[in-house]
Amino acid sequence: MAGVPANVQEVLGRFGQTHLLRWWDQLDSAGQQDLLNQIDQIDFDQVIRVWNQHHTQKTVDSASSAGRIDKAAAPVSVVRQPESEEDHIRREAAGKTGERLLSEGKVAVITVAGGQGSRLGFEHPKGMFPVGPVSERSLFQIFAEQILARQRRHGASILWMIMTSSATHAETVSFFEQHRFFGLDPRNVVFFQQGSMPAVDAASGKILMDGPCTISLSPDGHGGLISALQKAGLLKRMEAADIEHVFYHQVDNPTVILCDPVLLGFHHQARSSLTTNVVRKSSPTERMGVLVDIDGQVEIIEYSELTSEQAAKEDANGQWIFWAGNTAIHVFARSFLEELSTDGCRLELHVARKNVPYINEEGQLIQPSDSANPNGIKLERFIFDALPMASVTLIVEGNRSREFNPVKNRDGADSPATSRAALSAICRSWLASTGVHVAEGTAVEVSPLTALDAEELAAALKDGRVRLEQLTGNAG
Ligand code: UTP
Repeated sequence: MAGVPANVQEVLGRFGQTHLLRWWDQLDSAGQQDLLNQIDQIDFDQVIRVWNQHHTQKTVDSASSAGRIDKAAAPVSVVRQPESEEDHIRREAAGKTGERLLSEGKVAVITVAGGQGSRLGFEHPKGMFPVGPVSERSLFQIFAEQILARQRRHGASILWMIMTSSATHAETVSFFEQHRFFGLDPRNVVFFQQGSMPAVDAASGKILMDGPCTISLSPDGHGGLISALQKAGLLKRMEAADIEHVFYHQVDNPTVILCDPVLLGFHHQARSSLTTNVVRKSSPTERMGVLVDIDGQVEIIEYSELTSEQAAKEDANGQWIFWAGNTAIHVFARSFLEELSTDGCRLELHVARKNVPYINEEGQLIQPSDSANPNGIKLERFIFDALPMASVTLIVEGNRSREFNPVKNRDGADSPATSRAALSAICRSWLASTGVHVAEGTAVEVSPLTALDAEELAAALKDGRVRLEQLTGNAG
């Protein structure tokens, strides 16, 4: 194997991965270099350690998971949806605090947009999905317009950091360029790429290849954010700009209230390191991770860890223990993101069994399809693993129909149809509060640049900045 550096041969031999060089002699020099670059990115020690643990400790894992579930209690430190007069006053005060932080330029936004969106089956990065019920605005456009509207309202710039992956980067950047950043100043919009992890054959621990010079790689999970932020120099950039709070959200939810002043305000008042927006699960078995308290710490239990009996468990007051569904809307203290990035990244790697295409010894591409026994293991980090590491956490209950309507699946729950219906319903309710009634089920949409809330929409209608026909797409 002429040309393989001795240290590479040694490492591959030590970790039982010499098959990665099976086609070496047939590759041209560009292919060889490409392969070496990929090998160079892999932390073999870590990958094999995690595979080993998964391979040998499955029963220990499920026992420790059962122990956690028995100990779990409904979270304690929660700001619930307002009911009393007092609740409303507190919320208003939090909103004022959040608005002040925004006007002082203390807030940045992170959108995680590196996922492969396999359930939706859209052939572009998910942020490009045309979700607007009337305009077919993309998810990215809705977020961009919200940020622009906030900048105008609060008179300060907001740094927007968009995490992409090798699967989504190039198309995402050119989409923004093509749309001239939707009116935002490009200097305040940063794209940074997350890392990737190799897929491993579940039975043998051998890293899979999907071509003679290509290792089967996939994005390292939304928890890849921590090291990606550091590598891109963004923690330093935020520090230099005196940004204190980072509003984190996922690319798939068009009804997120970006930079929600109320969430920011509660977070700041509590001096929280990590604040999470939760919503009440619609049923105990809904497929949503839930926030719980375990031994005095906030953690997430994933739906897959709970049997339906456990999921419906109630406390002494007859309330579900596992009610607090994670919307993946968080506010991080910048200082906490810095803490998490010390020594590389403190979030652990998780294992997911998935069917992963690979080339066999004859070089044929195999597409495994046995869903009961997937061939591969993918490795990912989850951002919510940061919760138990935070010294102060706060949970704020959001308004589900207003704030959480993600596009995950092609049809059924959490699909484009439910998300578009939610956007229309929000706009209809804003109109109703100004006395304009639009028939149930009618598609209506307002640009965040026209209105971020009902009051702003009422003002825009009153002063003629927008007409009802424009909102329903019947303006002619
Ligand atoms: P999901 O867990 O819904 O995954 O991501 P996904 O890749 O978008 O979709 P499926 O599961 O393949 O259908 C939740 C959020 O985390 C981001 C996604 O872009 C989405 O905003 N994410 C996920 C990343 O940024 N990187 C990843 O490696 C994984």
